[in-house]
Amino acid sequence: MPSLENTHPEPLQSSLQKWWKESSVYQVYPASFCDSNGDGIGDIQGIISKLDYIKRLGSDIVWLNPVFSSPQVDMGYDISDYYGIHAPYGTVQDVDELAAAIHSRGMKLVLDLVVNHTSDQHAWFQESRSSITNPYRDWYTWKKPVFRNGERHPPNNWRSYFGGSAWTYDEQTGEYYLHLFAREQPDLNWENAQVPAAVHEIIRYWLDRGADGFRMDVINLISKDQRFPDAPITNPGSPWQSGKDFYSCGPRLHEYLQEIGKILKEYDAFSVGEMVEVDDPKEILKAVGHGRDEINMAFHFEIVNMDHGPSDKFSPRQWGLHELKEIVSKWQNFMHDNHGWNAIYLENHDQGRSVSRFASDGPKHREQSAKLLATLLGCQSGTLFVYQGQELGMPNVPQDWPVDNYRDIETLNHWKELIARHPENPSLHETALEQYRLKSRDNSRTPMQWNSSPNAGFSVGEPWIPVHSDYTRLNAAAQVKDPGSVYWYWSKILQLRKHHADTLVYGSFALVEPDHPDVFAFVRRPSLSTSPSALIVLNFRPYDVTWTVPATTEVCKAGGQVVLSNYPARIGSELVQSGSVSLGPMEAFVYFSEQK
Ligand code: GLC
Ligand code: CA
Repeated sequence: MPSLENTHPEPLQSSLQKWWKESSVYQVYPASFCDSNGDGIGDIQGIISKLDYIKRLGSDIVWLNPVFSSPQVDMGYDISDYYGIHAPYGTVQDVDELAAAIHSRGMKLVLDLVVNHTSDQHAWFQESRSSITNPYRDWYTWKKPVFRNGERHPPNNWRSYFGGSAWTYDEQTGEYYLHLFAREQPDLNWENAQVPAAVHEIIRYWLDRGADGFRMDVINLISKDQRFPDAPITNPGSPWQSGKDFYSCGPRLHEYLQEIGKILKEYDAFSVGEMVEVDDPKEILKAVGHGRDEINMAFHFEIVNMDHGPSDKFSPRQWGLHELKEIVSKWQNFMHDNHGWNAIYLENHDQGRSVSRFASDGPKHREQSAKLLATLLGCQSGTLFVYQGQELGMPNVPQDWPVDNYRDIETLNHWKELIARHPENPSLHETALEQYRLKSRDNSRTPMQWNSSPNAGFSVGEPWIPVHSDYTRLNAAAQVKDPGSVYWYWSKILQLRKHHADTLVYGSFALVEPDHPDVFAFVRRPSLSTSPSALIVLNFRPYDVTWTVPATTEVCKAGGQVVLSNYPARIGSELVQSGSVSLGPMEAFVYFSEQK
């Protein structure tokens, strides 16, 4: 196995250059993207009808959240048949048509591989639960109850990510099965060699059928410590505790990923793993390091968890700009120095909208905020992910959203638990609702806002989840027409990355004035001396801030200019070392040194 850190000689730059590093991904949430037949649910034909929009933005890869057959307890992350398509989304033939339409535009298709668990309606689980001796019994994790004082308890104290115990008792055979998510999402038992073999078959099937790669759901949870010990008490208020020490990056994870990696390599396929609960880049490097041949890159959660409080995701926490800088700098430098690779994102179907969480979504600053965050993302090293609507600067759900509007199992379970425990505590309820408006997964699941016609042009029927009320003001049609829009700003960023990949995709990263309380500034240096260096300056405050160009920033030495900014008047201007710049509210700019 190749070593993990700096010990091997510098490989040739060319062996580190990959198509998947220079690509950007557009993430489509099928249920909420575009409804072609008026049933209120987005579908594959709807996606096909919008491919030119995605292409025009400048994305290279389209990633679809799960479209497979599923009872939809967790929006398709509970798969009942990996070879079938959820009927409201379409058919396998529709997927073929989508793949062809994507390929004909020079783009690639990435599917979502959910193999930590299946749906409880999957035939494998139906067999498994039917009897202790069924050949599929061992495809899942079954354990005998523990009895204390004559009372039946689950085999350990692990908590499910969606609340309550991670074990459910099944009357039929008198045992508990493991589910790290909902009880309708039983965890597969990867220790049984038939399980990885079945997964390999699924992977090959879809690659042969036209997919170009996979996003792999909670992939670092697939190997569990087979002793299944009790977790340490980290949340004393609850009987259920996080068991992450026993299943996050578990004992056999890399063995499993290397087997998958072999298949992916055969097809030169794209892969990004979702890795929850890992803040140590060394752990992620084991999967994404050059020469490891496991997966291309992984999503970490350090940024999107900054505003999670101590007890759970919905407890409040105020994050600080210094934390954001430290986290970005840590991952940028570590992956660059160790030949790993980052997946760059701030939004997806599990996160609140980034303008609302990390910048300012008020009418005055929303647009500038969206452009500022686009600049932060677009000027980092890594493969860039844009989630539908992010390219328009869509914000979180409105302040007046009642609890009835939410659809997400995580939010609803949290609410039910809260009401059961504290039925008469209006201030706790209000705090929870406020936190949902910030972090509920439904914030990013409201329908895509295409135009100002009813239901934002998403559907002619009643959408499965309410449309955001601001769609008449904020929609794709209006932005595509307006060269100054967030959409075209994103498009420029994606172009800039393509033209200057040596600097913006592959270059090194260094914070500038790390302790500045309001401004996030950094320098990107290319590997070739003929490419320009870049200085990126971001004022994270909704007011003017005076910033002094550091004397040490050799990037500004003469002949350079601002090439991109959310303040158009800034474009073309020069910077002088030690000179001061008055930055407008949420101002962002990218300065290139003189090009040789
Ligand atoms: C991932 C998915 C999320 C899902 C969970 C369980 O985190 O992104 O939407 O609920 O895994 O599959
Ligand atoms: Ca539909």
